[in-house]
Amino acid sequence: MPPNVVDTQNAEELTEYLEQLDLKKLVRENKIYAVYPEVYYPPLKPYDHKDPGLLADPKKASIYDAAEKIFNLTPHIGTEVHGIQLSNLAEQQKNDLALLVAERGVVFFRDQDIRPKKSLELGRYYGPLHIHNVGGHPPNVPEILTLQIEHTDPKVRERLSYRSPGDGWHSDISYELQPGGLAFLKIDTLPGEAGGDTLWGSAYEAYDRLSPAWKKFAEGLKAVHSGDVHRETARLTGHPLRREAPDNVHPVVRVHPVTGWKALYVNRGFTRRIVDFTRRESDAVLNFLFDHIETGADFQVRFKWTEDTVAVWDNRVTYHNPVYDYFGSGLRHGYRVSPSAERPYFDPNGKSRREALAEKEAAEAKTKS
Ligand code: SIN
Repeated sequence: MPPNVVDTQNAEELTEYLEQLDLKKLVRENKIYAVYPEVYYPPLKPYDHKDPGLLADPKKASIYDAAEKIFNLTPHIGTEVHGIQLSNLAEQQKNDLALLVAERGVVFFRDQDIRPKKSLELGRYYGPLHIHNVGGHPPNVPEILTLQIEHTDPKVRERLSYRSPGDGWHSDISYELQPGGLAFLKIDTLPGEAGGDTLWGSAYEAYDRLSPAWKKFAEGLKAVHSGDVHRETARLTGHPLRREAPDNVHPVVRVHPVTGWKALYVNRGFTRRIVDFTRRESDAVLNFLFDHIETGADFQVRFKWTEDTVAVWDNRVTYHNPVYDYFGSGLRHGYRVSPSAERPYFDPNGKSRREALAEKEAAEAKTKS
């Protein structure tokens, strides 16, 4: 049974409900709590995104000084931070976190005590929270996306079981006009000793691994990203499509507003065609780029979760792929909070990450000599 639905117009009642809301506890009590209400939202309104990462200290000292340990999981993507609770960040730490995640793509925090109320507050700091078009959520809290595939509709599970694993690569809701920026995913229940890992890939390094001729070519392209998968999920499950899942055009290479680095912004999950190309030209280009991203083990990190870990990633500069190897062996549960960011843009003055890091190193060497 789902927990009680409260009067969402009553702020006090909602606050109290949120304070009590403990999704892990509900899951442990075998409650399938996610709801799919017949509520319809208007299209998203454009908004002016000011990225908190622009207020960060370049050294990110508020995080480095407070952490017990920080280490990189691979050279190009993924960092793990120990000794900091996301439920308790000071303002400067939130800004520094935005920069750290923008630089490293994804950052992991183990043993987190954060629960939905604080997750929502933290997420809102980075942008308006995206309400998923079709996914399930806890009663009264549409800004939380429940991730509990084992217990969702069997038709969806079947489709996921037969997918090619490469098909899962995506950047969250890239079909929106202002797609996801940071994402906060807490996994609090795992199927067992093994299973349910997630992979992330660096879109900076995917760009950097292209030849100079391909870089230039890709920089001139635009692609259509489509909400068709979510429209299809609604059709398949019979769950309402609570807001239109649109199609939008984005540049194939975008620049991150904080780092100024170029990232290859296409993903198999949502990118459908290259604008102004014939179908065959578009398929050839996209298939090459998808293959480049999905087989790019040199710039991926595969994360083995422990319960109560939170991953914070930047959708603008990464792709991710949840591994569905655990169906039938146990329950995996988590929830995601997804602030939106700016409309993707290309800036010819942007730099490649490698270029920028090399320049920084040269400048530091010069200061030391
Ligand atoms: C997601 O795509 O946001 C979910 C990732 C996961 O469940 O590991």
